[in-house]
This record gives sequence, structure tokens and C-alpha cells, in this order.
Amino acid sequence: MRRSVVIGTGSYLPARILTNAELAATVDTTDEWIVERTGIRERHIAADDELTSDLAVAAARAALAAAGLDRVDLIVVATATPDQTFPACATVVQHKLGWTDGVAFDVAAVCSGFLYALAVADAMLVTGAYGTALVIGAETFSRLLDWSDRGTCVLFGDGAGAIVLRAEEQAGTSADRGILGHRLHSDGRYNDLLYVDGGPGSTGTVGKLRMKGREVFRHAVTNLAGVMTEVLAASGLSIGEVSWVVPHQANLRILEGTAKKLGLDPARVVVTVDAHANTSAASVPLALDVAVRDGRIVRGDVLILEAMGGGFTWGAAAVRW
Ligand code: UT7
Repeated sequence: MRRSVVIGTGSYLPARILTNAELAATVDTTDEWIVERTGIRERHIAADDELTSDLAVAAARAALAAAGLDRVDLIVVATATPDQTFPACATVVQHKLGWTDGVAFDVAAVCSGFLYALAVADAMLVTGAYGTALVIGAETFSRLLDWSDRGTCVLFGDGAGAIVLRAEEQAGTSADRGILGHRLHSDGRYNDLLYVDGGPGSTGTVGKLRMKGREVFRHAVTNLAGVMTEVLAASGLSIGEVSWVVPHQANLRILEGTAKKLGLDPARVVVTVDAHANTSAASVPLALDVAVRDGRIVRGDVLILEAMGGGFTWGAAAVRW
């Protein structure tokens, strides 16, 4: 059967680092509170002239170089912060990469966006319709934040991550390389726990991010542990076979709580929330690229990627490296 195999990863973080201490000078917070409640120490913030598409292109170029490709058939960008309401950020990325054909579109599932984009790209590759894909998560959440709201402005950062997928014939067992399975969920009842208070079809403004953090937190561990269990079963894998969990990086306590619930060694969880904060759709591919480039993730490893975000949306994918 055809499997989507990851043949390259890349990422990009803006140069500007914003520390907790700097935030404590502008809102009523402390480095101690942020580190203790979230694990975040610093985040990267895009320069005024850097757009989400620029971050995405930098990550895409790194992933293409790692894959040894200079073209793909399909570009799927997961973002909640496109440069413009339309056209899709993916077509801007396509243009900046200098390509004039192929298929490019965005997927909107906020922090779960990369898992959704991965599932869509995988489905399009395994049918045989396309051979290669760039799947990108890219965000400039700094532009959605209310910098006077200490409950949210300390939590997010900017960045981008990308992978290149190539369809390959495999035996059709759980020993195959590539994406072995994915499971996605949405539940729109919880829209008002994490949302942006504006939009092109309502206020005509971009709006600012609003979150009832404690309530989101309560759902996160249960939903993530649930979907990870589902994807393992769907992929014919057991928890003991998991080499690395590459999670959405919202809060260190969520990562630890989810690992504990599943009986997973916390040392098997890739953590970047301390240095990146929550970069929404970019966080999973960013963390993935970090762990690939520092040599933790090696060929044959079983990875579980997972995320949960606004909507609510949540999902997980099992991948053999
Ligand atoms: O990516 C999408 C998914 N998003 C998430 O997964 C986020 C999930 N939520 C969280 O990570 C956590 O709920 C937060 C980090 C947002 C908040 O942590 P918490 O332990 O749930 O704190 P809390 O909201 O219950 O607030 C505790 C206290 C409150 O004060 P009172 O009411 O007890 O007096 C807050 O006003 O902490 C206060 N607080 C702060 N204090 C200092 C809230 N933000 C801050 C802050 N600095 N930045």
C-alpha cells in the first residue's frame, strides 16, 4: 500500500526573543508564575516586516533542502494567522518559492492545524493523486494577542515548521515507514472557551485572542490521552512501542499530565515549550524538527504527534520514521 513517508523537516524562528522578565515589566506577572504554571521561559516574536508566509517559506526551504527536493506537488499550510483573509497563505508561499503550478491551500484548525493538514495531505497522497507534499504550520500569534491580558499574552509565540512527505509503496503493516494512522476530532460546543473576538464576516476586524485557560486545560489532558490511545489502536501499535511523543506545546503541565495518564516515560516527550511557548499550528513541526536535528529521532522510531486547540479541535498521528 501507499504510505506518506516524511523525507525532510525544517523550521524557522524569528530572531527576536521575548523573555518572561521583559513581559513582567509590561503586565502584572512574574517569571516565577509563568515558569511554574506553564514551563515557558521565552518566546520568539516576528519582526514588523515578517509575515506568516515569510516564516512558512523559511521553514519550507529548510525542509526541502533536508529532503533533497526543489519541488512538490502539494502545499498545505496550517495557520490561523494568514497574511490576508484571502487568498490562502499557501498560495503566497507557493509564489515566494517561485512555483507556478501544483495545488496550494490552507487548513484552519488553530493549534490542531498541523495534525489536520497532515491528515489531509496524507489522504491526498495515498490515493495516488499526488506524489509529494509540503505540510507547513506557520503562525504570527503575537499579532492576535491582547498585550494587556496577562492570562493570554504570556503564553504564545511566533514560528513555523514544515515537513516534506513522499508517497512510497510499503508492505501495509505497522512496521512500515511513514504515516501509520491519524485520528481527528472536533466539538464546536466549546468555541467560546478559546476564540478570536473578530473576523471578516462578523466585526470586519481581525480581533484578539480570548481564552478561558483553566477550562481549556481541563479538557486538554483527557482529549489528548483519548486520541493518542485511539491512534495507537488504529495503527496496530502499543504504548510500549512509542519512541517519542511530539506534542503541541501549550503548557508543560499538560504534556506531563498526558504522559502520566498514558503511563509514558516523560523523558520520551519532546519539549520545546520552554523556548518557543505556544506557537499554535507551528508547534508540532517545530518540535519535530528540533528533535530530528539534534539526533533524538532516528530511522525506525515510532512517533506520536498530537495537538488540541480552538474549536475545540484535537488529533493525533502515528508515524514511523
Ligand atoms: O493551544 C491551545 C490550548 N491551550 C491550552 O492548552 C492552554 C490551557 N490552559 C493553561 O495552560 C492554563 O490554564 C493557564 C496557563 C492559561 C493558566 O494556568 P492556571 O493554573 O489554570 O491558572 P488560572 O487560570 O486558574 O489562574 C490562577 C490565577 C488567577 O488569579 P486568582 O483568580 O486565583 O486570583 C489568575 O488571574 O493566576 C492568575 N494569573 C496570572 N498571574 C500571574 C493568570 N495569568 C497570570 C499571569 N501572571 N500571567
